[in-house]
Amino acid sequence: MSLFPTIRHRRLRYNPIIRDMVRETVLTKNDLIYPLFVVPGSKIKNPVKSMPGVFQMSIDNIVEECKEVRDLGIPAIILFGIPEHKDEIGSEAYHSDGIIQRAIKSIKNEIKDLVVITDVCMCEYTSHGHCGVLKGEEILNDETVELLAKEALSHAQAGADIVAPSDMMDGRVAAIRKILDENGFNKIPIMSYAAKYASGFYGPFREAAESTPAFGDRRSHQMDIGNINEAIREVEEDIKEGADIVMVKPAGPYLDVIREVKQRFGMPTAAYQVSGEYSMIKAAGINGWIDEERVMVESVFAIKRAGADLILTYFAKDLAKWIDKTRK
Ligand code: PBG
Repeated sequence: MSLFPTIRHRRLRYNPIIRDMVRETVLTKNDLIYPLFVVPGSKIKNPVKSMPGVFQMSIDNIVEECKEVRDLGIPAIILFGIPEHKDEIGSEAYHSDGIIQRAIKSIKNEIKDLVVITDVCMCEYTSHGHCGVLKGEEILNDETVELLAKEALSHAQAGADIVAPSDMMDGRVAAIRKILDENGFNKIPIMSYAAKYASGFYGPFREAAESTPAFGDRRSHQMDIGNINEAIREVEEDIKEGADIVMVKPAGPYLDVIREVKQRFGMPTAAYQVSGEYSMIKAAGINGWIDEERVMVESVFAIKRAGADLILTYFAKDLAKWIDKTRK
């Protein structure tokens, strides 16, 4: 039997102040991580065509950008590097004077109160655009893990606050934890891209990071789009290997995975609202087909509501401004 008219759900919706009081999900600046793309050179700010509002920047401009991000109250950035030279084994990924290592040092020299996270992967650094060492067309797991560990260590040595392996090789979290601990970096957390799907939503990122594979795809290491039990096993393994924060990626199309991971493990859980998710909202907004700000906010609320504690998003600056505007 209906409880109406005793129960009227609309009572708490008539007044905007009451609506805010009973809103169950709250977005704060502390939830946000802003991705940045570093390129060699100086005074460079190249627009990424498929991601309006996103730029590849040289280190000088990255430092200025980081100041703006910090001043907006965003606590953290994640850095992706596009090296001067790519080769078969992605040497610049773990070179002490590589693009990321130099960027970290410059940021840390000038800005103390910003958490610098680094993406640990080979795909931006290899001439073939694959995430590891190749034998023929196969990506070798164990050989790649060794290089990833060296890469993570070089990031920590340059001053990174958190390292974030995004490659999906097996065993890399344990290898990274081991090499960090052996070298005096036992305080550096690992944020692992634990459940990362082989997704079409990464398309625009590969323009930004210049990391499109020369042949084939990433399906031999990234997860199949139909699987959730496997995501749980991936996350469980990474936690056992020492991950401090676990990530689900992409975010919007995988809200069920975010929810399951958060409920099951209760770990600090990150979700990456990836390039394609951003570009679709931007494109529809620019065309006047949707209200971009509203949809941006709604898309990120969905990710938070599903259970994410941290959200990596190209909208981070716009969201910080939105938070300032709505908190009168
Ligand atoms: C790999 C990496 C990728 C993204 C983050 N780290 C690309 C890939 O796996 O092909 C995608 C992020 C995005 O689409 O915004 N280094």
